[in-house]
Amino acid sequence: MTTNTKPRGLEGIVAAETRLSHVDGQNGILIVAGYSIEDLAAHATFEEVAHLLWRGHLPNASELKDLSSQMAEQRELLPVTLEILRSAAKAPPIDALRMACATLSLGLKDPNAVTHEADFAAAIRLTACFPTIVAAHARFAKGEKPIAPRRDLSLAANFLYMVLGREPDAVAAKALDSYWVTVMDHGMNASTFTARVIASTRSDLVSSVTGALGALKGPLHGGAPGPVLDMLRDIKTSANAEPWIRNELAQGRRIMGFGHRVYKVRDPRAEVLSRVAEKMQGAKLENRELFELARQVEQTALRVLNELKPGRNLRTNVEFYTALVLQAVGLEPTQFVAMFACGRVAGWCAHVIEQHEQDHLIRPQSEYTGPIDLKTNR
Ligand code: ACO
Repeated sequence: MTTNTKPRGLEGIVAAETRLSHVDGQNGILIVAGYSIEDLAAHATFEEVAHLLWRGHLPNASELKDLSSQMAEQRELLPVTLEILRSAAKAPPIDALRMACATLSLGLKDPNAVTHEADFAAAIRLTACFPTIVAAHARFAKGEKPIAPRRDLSLAANFLYMVLGREPDAVAAKALDSYWVTVMDHGMNASTFTARVIASTRSDLVSSVTGALGALKGPLHGGAPGPVLDMLRDIKTSANAEPWIRNELAQGRRIMGFGHRVYKVRDPRAEVLSRVAEKMQGAKLENRELFELARQVEQTALRVLNELKPGRNLRTNVEFYTALVLQAVGLEPTQFVAMFACGRVAGWCAHVIEQHEQDHLIRPQSEYTGPIDLKTNR
């Protein structure tokens, strides 16, 4: 049994040194490789921030051209990956992504190597293929054929083209790109820690990322935005917000999109994404109404949580406005956690590269709480 003096769930324990990102939970600040998340989300593309994390600096024009064309060339899936996605058509997208991710080592020259070169090749392959996998699975789930990726579009625009089957809307592509930048890396979160633990055994990048996907799936980590949208749709009008939230809390349930292990103030990513969601309202009435409702539900939830859970500092987290951005670009709630993975994969890869450089096994201890004097008497 754990005692009150021991941190539960490794809370507050420093498990690694990293140059990749810094989360200041008391002040609501997220720094990614030296830059504030607000700055990057507004002024850098997904491909640029991936380069920043993998190579340590924002790319110049020729470095960006190089990385973008390598990522564009690597978007196509092998037949075996497509076959798995077809067989998994009824599975949740995040499960299909995990199954398909494991096959990506088949296309790599040196899948088990843990050298810099092998890690960068795998990072490009995985980051390029994740959106193709999610889009192909979405088409299979609807009984349709996948649409082959295009090389002339950004990763985000190409994803929308493959999943929606039409020329991508520039505003939606920009919103998705900003979302992916916003969630790309976030300190020692559960899935990143999982990736680093696997990498620390000198296991390969594809294995590390496949494990991270399993950790991301849970509703306490990446699985919350689908339920956020369900909540908003269930609440329907601002007048229903307070009774709905009070009833959930009375039943002992959590309000999705609120609370965070590290942030004790509003998650800065919620602010960034609320602005992105606001821009996405456009002419579509449904988006405008949902955004208005979300704002009111947010205020009500904060007030009621403060009243019923005093001192817990439960504030809006990244998942709340993620739900609005992703539904506005035309995606289904079941796809939301897989969308998160498409952004976070670049961060996982960066952490695997860093962990391989540090080359030190992560192996904590446990406190045994069982008996020590049993006898089999056989
Ligand atoms: N709604 C209601 N109560 C909550 C919530 C919530 N969203 N979050 C925490 N609490 C309460 C807990 O019930 C607990 O209350 P108690 O002390 O009366 O028992 C107290 O606050 C502390 O909760 P813990 O679970 O110990 O806090 P922890 O730091 O482990 O939780 C977490 C963080 C898992 C994110 C939690 O706030 C939560 O479940 N939120 C809802 C799910 C969600 O939005 N997940 C996405 C997180 S963001 C991300 O991972 C990308």
